[in-house]
Amino acid sequence: MIITGKYPNLRLRRNRKNDWSRRLVQENSLSYNDLILPIFVIEGKNKKQEISSMPDVYRYSVNRLSEIIDKALLKKIPMVAIFPYTNHKYKDNLGTEALNEDNLVCRSILYIKKKYKDKIGIMCDVALDPYTNHGHDGILKKGKILNDETNKILVKQSILQAQMGCDVIAPSDMMDGRIGEIRKGLDKNKFYEVQILSYAVKYASSFYGPFRDAVGSKKALKGDKKTYQMDYKNSIESLREVALDIKEGADIVMVKPGMPYLDVIKLVKDNFKIPVFAYQVSGEYSLIKNGIKKGLINEDSILESLISFKRAGANAIVSYFADKISL
Ligand code: PBG
Repeated sequence: MIITGKYPNLRLRRNRKNDWSRRLVQENSLSYNDLILPIFVIEGKNKKQEISSMPDVYRYSVNRLSEIIDKALLKKIPMVAIFPYTNHKYKDNLGTEALNEDNLVCRSILYIKKKYKDKIGIMCDVALDPYTNHGHDGILKKGKILNDETNKILVKQSILQAQMGCDVIAPSDMMDGRIGEIRKGLDKNKFYEVQILSYAVKYASSFYGPFRDAVGSKKALKGDKKTYQMDYKNSIESLREVALDIKEGADIVMVKPGMPYLDVIKLVKDNFKIPVFAYQVSGEYSLIKNGIKKGLINEDSILESLISFKRAGANAIVSYFADKISL
């Protein structure tokens, strides 16, 4: 560490004295290029439905997606992430609806691609939790989540999404070996150009609460996800997860949740020369949003939270604030 002088010759406040000076010495900044907007979709027509646990976030019916995508395009947000609220009657033990080529995600991809071509990227989760009646990301049998059997379905789900036109396949399930299997499956079907964004470092977190409400898996979920998502007491383990996923073919890796795991983002970024994304998850969003609504913190907390990811080394951030902030 180089210390360039000492007080009173050195006064660090000099560079902070005016706004123009602070702007000149700033180390990090945020632009819309850094943001990915998650969007929830529901069945029906002309619907825009409030989500009680996520103020100012809505579920849109497919035909109304243009309303939110137009907003994203105006800000030049590069990509949206699609999440379905699946009607309970379509859920079963195996998450069969994940492979229905007429499911909400497939219809959303078709709609967006038809209307916007390649003007905006589409990322889709690969996992079974929106489709299973037990709310888990994989197949549940005798109290256990089956790894390899789940992978077989995830490969099919990925290929289906790629066929519909999905640009970025984002496995969020945390099964072992799924990135390699999915890459193989995609390549076999000539989807060489479809990217894989691996939720490589995903913790078993209570910060996902509002999301599970938003996609309707909260009441369904039996138990917790600790046998597949990571233990929040660990950080070194994240390096093994990332190393494996890179070997298996991940183009980008993600750390999730965001703010409680800034150390992990930095650790991954310092150790691997690969794009690292962060997910500012639903619980983080709702806490900040409600804090602002209650007057506990002000609006600037949003930018402060997003810049913290940049400082930690994230290349891009998935955030429910993406369409709401002005930069
Ligand atoms: C599903 C999935 C989850 C999130 C994204 N994909 C929830 C979970 O694993 O239970 C959470 C996103 C958020 O909280 O905003 N595999």
